Amino acid sequence: MQRDFGVSPEDLSCVVKILLSGQIVALPTETVYGLACLALDEFAVAKVYKAKQRPANDPLIIHVSDLRETKLVCRPDQRAISLIEAFWPGPLTLVLPKNRIVPPIVTSGLSTVAVRSPAHPVFRKVLNLVNAPLAAPSANPFGKVSPTKAEHIKQSFGDEHPPVVNGGPTQIGIESTVVDLSSKRARILRPGPIDVDAISAILGEELEIPKVNGTCDKFKTPLSPGLLAKHYQPESPLQIFSNNEDLMAYLKSEPSIPAATYVITHSPLNEICFPSKGLKFMHLSETGNPAEIAKNFFAILREVDTHSPPRILCPLLPDTGIGSAVNDRLRKASYKD
Ligand code: TXA
Ligand code: MG
Repeated sequence: MQRDFGVSPEDLSCVVKILLSGQIVALPTETVYGLACLALDEFAVAKVYKAKQRPANDPLIIHVSDLRETKLVCRPDQRAISLIEAFWPGPLTLVLPKNRIVPPIVTSGLSTVAVRSPAHPVFRKVLNLVNAPLAAPSANPFGKVSPTKAEHIKQSFGDEHPPVVNGGPTQIGIESTVVDLSSKRARILRPGPIDVDAISAILGEELEIPKVNGTCDKFKTPLSPGLLAKHYQPESPLQIFSNNEDLMAYLKSEPSIPAATYVITHSPLNEICFPSKGLKFMHLSETGNPAEIAKNFFAILREVDTHSPPRILCPLLPDTGIGSAVNDRLRKASYKD
């Protein structure tokens, strides 16, 4: 079976056939690679859960090409329409009351469904050719680091990896912002590339920001599994610092940092400052620009992790805009039970 595809019309038409036959395919989006399948085919969706070893109580995002497909799967209200007009196609996911056509497996039995219209031209092309909504979680095994390059899927799933369309590195690098519009007060379920302030400006209301690990019922179904404290975890332990200065102070003063510890910095560092510690350094961007840091974040974390260092150290970003979204990933990636 062919597993590696490019973006030529011939390759995409093969990929469309695979999807239409109820199989799964990893596709690039502007945020991260997604593991896609026909959203309305419960058997295809089951294959996604199985491949990712994803718990059944963690619902999927349905990707749509336009408002017509949105209305097929859910009931957008006026607030949703205004956010759709402002931010789609793009990295904003809306949680809305679902229509009966959506199989319960997609939404983990919830009465709501998460929906977004991705901006990536390859994903859009496939959506148009398939002419049906596609469910697609990030294409990583559950709880692990998200994929921003086609090779990350092979790295995670090995030789038997699902078919993957190589559309190059993803532009944004972290997953969409998730906004729950299913109740009166809009709330952020996952911070992401679209800023909370930009969303509240359109809605004309403050958004609720629930605590990590919030639960919504007596069975302890998470309000959104995206709110779990632990996610995106590398194999090596990750230790975070509140800012650059705290990290630098720690590097200078701490006598017991194990040799070959990896230090991930926002921009290049003068390594001469730390001559004798046997530390390894990697930087997330050339300039410290938060968008560039977000773009490279998962790829650098993966690369560092391939060396199996005894520890990985990384400082948080200033807590605004996309910096807050990267910090959310850093906190979850470093969380210990
Ligand atoms: O950028 C993205 O959103 C990527 C690309 C592939 O589109 N997808 C992605 O999917 O990040 P996933 O499955 O890794 O994350 C979906 C998040 C999860 O936290 C899930 O719990 C939440 O959305 N979610 C899905 N349906 C939900 C619902 N009905 N209510 C609350 N949260 C929901
Ligand atoms: Mg994910």
